Amino acid sequence: MARVKIAPSILSADFARLGEQIREAEDAGADWIHVDVMDGHFVPNITIGPLIAEAARRCTELPLDTHLMIEAPERYLEAFVRAGVSLLTVHAEACRHLHRTVQQIRELGARAGVAINPATPVEALGEILPYVDMVLVMSVNPGFGGQSYIPTTTAKVARVRRLLDEGGLSHVELEVDGGIGAENAAEVVRAGATALVAGSAVYNRRATVAENLRALREAVDGMER
Ligand code: DX5
Ligand code: ZN
Repeated sequence: MARVKIAPSILSADFARLGEQIREAEDAGADWIHVDVMDGHFVPNITIGPLIAEAARRCTELPLDTHLMIEAPERYLEAFVRAGVSLLTVHAEACRHLHRTVQQIRELGARAGVAINPATPVEALGEILPYVDMVLVMSVNPGFGGQSYIPTTTAKVARVRRLLDEGGLSHVELEVDGGIGAENAAEVVRAGATALVAGSAVYNRRATVAENLRALREAVDGMER
């Protein structure tokens, strides 16, 4: 049994004070720092590259949970591992040879995650599940922070949970990303998630990072999996 992991996404942080914002999250009990990498092709936005990941690496001891929303991510795996990333997630939709890409991540010494978009069925994961350390279920269409949680995701998370448990793969992390806040965190964990990404629910003007993280933690308190 492990406590539910909370991974603040720096996408919603103030990039002029990135180091400070990462340390605030770490001090407030974040488990991972979620790093959203976008290339302007796979998703309509452009964000972070290995250079910023390396800078983030120097600000925290926490694992950098790095979410590659880029086409043909195999081209950049080595650069991110060299930057100090230990958990790399690629999108099933962005990989022509997903199995090979997952193997490459592990050969580089990192843990491998596979993400699926809202319209991608859980069946797309079937053959790759025995080879991954994490599944990431997108609960918004990737590209931007601050979007609303797509309600059908909860049932989808439950289906992935069933696939993992029935396959003897209960150790695989099940992360959910997009539109998560204190109001729906418990529902997502109850469906089977072990890790929650939260961007705009952590970094916003309404409250401090510590207050926001406390609210999220309280929402899933005692819900170990
Ligand atoms: C969306 C990113 C998310 C984003 C989540 O494309 O993958 O990680 O930062 O932001 P919120 O929590 O605001 O939906
Ligand atoms: Zn993300």
